[in-house]
Amino acid sequence: MNDVLSDTVDAFLDAANPEPPELLQEMTAYGRERDFPIVGPDVGQFFRVAATLAGAERVFEFGSGFGYSAAWFRTALPADGEIVLTDYEESNLATAREFLGRQDGATARFEAGDAMETFRRYDGPFDVVLLDHDKPQYVDAFEAARGEVADGGVVVADNVMAGPVELENVTSALEGGEPVDDQTAAIAEYVEHVRDDPGFETAVVPLGEGVSISVKR
Ligand SMILES: C[S@@+](CC[C@H](N)C(=O)[O-])C[C@H]1O[C@@H](n2cnc3c(N)ncnc32)[C@H](O)[C@@H]1O
Repeated sequence: MNDVLSDTVDAFLDAANPEPPELLQEMTAYGRERDFPIVGPDVGQFFRVAATLAGAERVFEFGSGFGYSAAWFRTALPADGEIVLTDYEESNLATAREFLGRQDGATARFEAGDAMETFRRYDGPFDVVLLDHDKPQYVDAFEAARGEVADGGVVVADNVMAGPVELENVTSALEGGEPVDDQTAAIAEYVEHVRDDPGFETAVVPLGEGVSISVKR
């Protein structure tokens, strides 16, 4: 995992945060053993708090992998809530189905295929929308989501500081430099896009690989 935090801060968060539920500990180990790009426990705990603050009942994920972030969100949802998982890879969703099958809680829907196509088939409102799929699709996904997010709901986006991008390169692009590649250009564009949107209030949180959170006014 390409964390932006120092080892010292990382150790602090491990000590300070609540111990993750057992299933999430198992899923963290599963992801790390396979080098799968999960958001990790610090971001997972942050998602749990964000969903709780939003009073979330419905969550939609663009890019769910094997269900790690979804399992975190689900810990904050009521039993009659709903979370929609999307992924290109059937095999990822099959693993997600196994893990989430061992967790009580909100209804989980597993949707193979392009996340945007799936999103268009669902009606809002959603209280939380996660963007964690192809970075060049973030702005379009945000625009698709904006009308389907409840007032007080949030759009969270992963990898705004690291992962497929380098922190210094994103900073340079935000300062007006020529982006070094498409991923960097896409992330810088997304950060500026949500920052300048009067309909949302946005902060970037340097946990994991950097998360942006935009609250709908
Ligand atoms: C970073 S991983 C998601 C990790 C997950 N959110 C977590 O933290 O547990 C990104 C996933 O998005 C999927 N993906 C990428 N582009 C997609 C798209 N357009 N539609 C659906 N899935 C997509 C990939 O197959 C991959 O499994």
